[in-house]
Amino acid sequence: MKVLGIDIGGSGIKAAIVNTKNGELLSERHRIDTPKPAEPKAIAEVIKEMVNFFDWKGPVGCCFPTIIVDNQCMHHGNLSEKWVGVKVDKLFKKECDGNKFYISNDADLAGYAEVELGAGKGVKGKVFVITLGTGIGSGLFYNGKLIPNVELGRIYHTNGEIIEKFAADSARKRENLSLKEWTKRVGIFLNHVKILHSPKLFIIGGGISKKFDKFKEHLIVDVPVEVAKFGNNAGIIGAAIYAGKKSKK
Ligand code: BGC
Repeated sequence: MKVLGIDIGGSGIKAAIVNTKNGELLSERHRIDTPKPAEPKAIAEVIKEMVNFFDWKGPVGCCFPTIIVDNQCMHHGNLSEKWVGVKVDKLFKKECDGNKFYISNDADLAGYAEVELGAGKGVKGKVFVITLGTGIGSGLFYNGKLIPNVELGRIYHTNGEIIEKFAADSARKRENLSLKEWTKRVGIFLNHVKILHSPKLFIIGGGISKKFDKFKEHLIVDVPVEVAKFGNNAGIIGAAIYAGKKSKK
């Protein structure tokens, strides 16, 4: 099945048409900067622009960078506080004149792609897909099944801030950290998660995953760590697979 997958991030909104059987992108990947402030109306307009860009008439899967329960935003994450309580599927549908939208948390959907078709395929036990970008996203899977809205980036670090302020890729950029310094921080985070959850596997996604070969040697954690097979496209692909399945029900 062909589905339009959209990944709404803190800095960019990316989309492509996806073959949901094998995760292949069937179109170019189109990116538009996330509007600032990242308010509902402004983002809905970008979604409309995306749908028009692809001239898309079918279902749309959407990664959203906040807690999402039944298509509704429950926390603003790194977006505007105006998102809290918004039924994201309804808002986008209205803006786009009818396409049906299926919305879930970004890391949950990136994980969906990886567990269905990528680095987590067939892995039994707990698998965490960790996306390192503007924030830290975490998708938890147990025996291949998603346990939604696990928000590990919101754990508090001993410095009193949530850990994503310390270890997300945005912290590396903001504080001008070397890849090695930043990777040490990611290691502190993953070691803490290891104590809490004893996972079988960590899968690292997000834009920085393309540099995985450069930083993996500095990542010291006693759990296997793999890079997302679909890299930063995992969100787009997972969103499309998710919408494809939901639209058949
Ligand atoms: C949000 C998560 C999201 C992550 C990555 C965090 O700030 O709380 O819901 O998955 O950023 O976008």
